[in-house]
Amino acid sequence: MIEIDFVRQRFIKHFDGKTGNVYTSPGRINLIGEHTDYNGGFVFPGAVDKGVTAEMRANGTEDTVMAYAIDLKDRVDFKLSDPAGPKASWARYIYGIALEMKKLGVPVKGFNIAFAGDVPLGAGMSSSAAMESCFACGLNDIFGENKVSQWDMVLAGQATEHNYCGVNCGIMDQFASVFGKAGCLMRLDCRSREFEYFPFKPDGYRLVLLDSVVKHQLAGSPYNDRRNSCENVVKHIQAKHPEGKFETLRDCTWEQLEEVKAEVGEEDYKRAKFVLGEKDRVLAVCDALNEGDYEKVGEMMYKTHEGLSKDYEVSCEELDFLNDIAKENGVTGSRIMGGGFGGCTINLVRNDLYKKFIEDAKKRFNEKYGHEPKVYDVVIGDGSRKLC
Ligand code: GLA
Repeated sequence: MIEIDFVRQRFIKHFDGKTGNVYTSPGRINLIGEHTDYNGGFVFPGAVDKGVTAEMRANGTEDTVMAYAIDLKDRVDFKLSDPAGPKASWARYIYGIALEMKKLGVPVKGFNIAFAGDVPLGAGMSSSAAMESCFACGLNDIFGENKVSQWDMVLAGQATEHNYCGVNCGIMDQFASVFGKAGCLMRLDCRSREFEYFPFKPDGYRLVLLDSVVKHQLAGSPYNDRRNSCENVVKHIQAKHPEGKFETLRDCTWEQLEEVKAEVGEEDYKRAKFVLGEKDRVLAVCDALNEGDYEKVGEMMYKTHEGLSKDYEVSCEELDFLNDIAKENGVTGSRIMGGGFGGCTINLVRNDLYKKFIEDAKKRFNEKYGHEPKVYDVVIGDGSRKLC
């Protein structure tokens, strides 16, 4: 986690010498349940010990925001009343969340903000949700007397992605960032929004991320295309069954998917097939965790990878290669994590195999792609909070 002092010194130096309040929010991992959130399914995320930390303070103006991205050494000032908003992609998260918090009744006025992060960008650990929930937490405290609920902050973060950043994401990332709890994964039902904390202490195993350092670009087409495919299949199933109510793929069965196979086409069919399978796998993993059967958990992770790669088509050569290395090293489970198109694999590894696996992955990846993957040991941390 970024030290408070690191951000504070820069906040003081960059603005008028005064201090504000400091907030932090984490990135996330996800054990299983990928691309299920916008399909009304289940996800199994946890917050990590890496995130975004921001110092914020009302600056006395009606609506001028002065923002400094410490890591990029980039300063952007903008007005909340400007309908276009700032161009810099990082500043759009601040602009977007401020307007979304206003919609929730928070009387946001002008403020100064400086922030830094240690969630690796583009690694699939959701640095963007970490920003949204951190800024939401700060604005709620500074201007809103903390009256906005945690769930509304989650939804404000998601709306920021939809309305200002061009990504029609689900709610997993913002949920994990806001509700995270040290040592616990969370099983969230994305339809009912009910969730449960699952203490995660896999005796004899550990979770490790291998970052391919291939950057994905979620904004715009590839992610949104997949969501559209899923929604298209639901529309066709609904048309065939006017008596039923089909809101998302969660409401659809394997038989109903088969019925519309010819009309929706191969691509949409395969995508929906992955989602239905993934829904079942999350539930199987819950049972396996309750029984302490980590070999079963791992088996499901490999199946998810295969589906994400072959049916959902969000993998890439580098991630498939990391997955193969995991398999060859006898790693219990391994799969792409997050939206895909680059980023990390998440690996469930027996402690006694860990060292050899990491060495082998680094060596072989380097031989093939000219650089080593980055290695992040997963530490499950707390969600959004005020630090001082
Ligand atoms: C991204 C999105 C999430 C989720 C995952 C895939 O991280 O922001 O809402 O859809 O991809 O599981």
